[in-house]
Amino acid sequence: MQIAVNILILPDFKAMTILQTKEDLQQYLGPYKQANKCIGFVPTMGALHQGHLSLASRALEECALVVVSIFVNPTQFNNPEDLEKYPRQLAQDVAILSALNTDIVVFSPTSENIYAGQVKARQYDFGDLGSFMEGLHRPGHFDGVATVVSLLFDAVTPDRAYFGEKDYQQLRIVETLVAIEKQPVIIVPCAIARNVEGLALSSRNQRLNVLQRQQALLLIQVLRDARKNFGTTSIEAIKKQVFTAFENNPECTLEYFEIADVVSLVPRNTKDPKKKYRAFIAAHIAGVRLIDNIELN
Ligand code: PAF
Repeated sequence: MQIAVNILILPDFKAMTILQTKEDLQQYLGPYKQANKCIGFVPTMGALHQGHLSLASRALEECALVVVSIFVNPTQFNNPEDLEKYPRQLAQDVAILSALNTDIVVFSPTSENIYAGQVKARQYDFGDLGSFMEGLHRPGHFDGVATVVSLLFDAVTPDRAYFGEKDYQQLRIVETLVAIEKQPVIIVPCAIARNVEGLALSSRNQRLNVLQRQQALLLIQVLRDARKNFGTTSIEAIKKQVFTAFENNPECTLEYFEIADVVSLVPRNTKDPKKKYRAFIAAHIAGVRLIDNIELN
């Protein structure tokens, strides 16, 4: 008889502190706060990958203690099926973090605890920043993100918080949120983590098989082509090339491709030589929604 065994080998395994309420977290953080120690914060929705670990590693280099939150935030999902299918694997996430073997606290609250009973997004006005791309295609998404980030900041009271540039628009929304709410936290943007072939790391990649992950490379291919051609080709022509690439690869469905200036995040069809631009893409493969972006100039 054959028995399938999954063994997770953790070098230098160290027991982790896992806290499930903001009250317990605040009590735990009290001595660090009193001693003026730097608290770093990496907010996540779990299903951790190398990208999250690189944020946590950077936070560990810069802070005395790092809080990693693992909370799948219901108010930022505009699609109930997406929320339901979002991978949840707390035990595995804790094991992955403990392999980092340093001072990390996992904060894994319930919705009731973090939202104090009322699981509802606040309404924010982020102007143009929240009006296009993710803001346009996922109505209410940024209200949900901003609400939970604000509540998490209240619970963790971090000195520094680490956000990946894969969710570039989210990063800019969080920077704005902190300014609006005068939260005393430094937002640290971190470069996009990619696999060797260039696919941006995402918890959603777990839902793709080997072939679909290959097909997903179309996103980074069109982004890299856009960067290569940006200096010599009009935005309109670049967009046409992207649409053609997707027509030729019907297993990938393009949701949007935009080129926006990095300050306003308003999509543009003409270039101003004084401005910096980024290309942004969202596409679906086998029912999985992926996003990515790249600096163009
Ligand atoms: O980027 C994410 O994983 C989420 O949007 C965040 C920032 C943890 C808020 O739920």
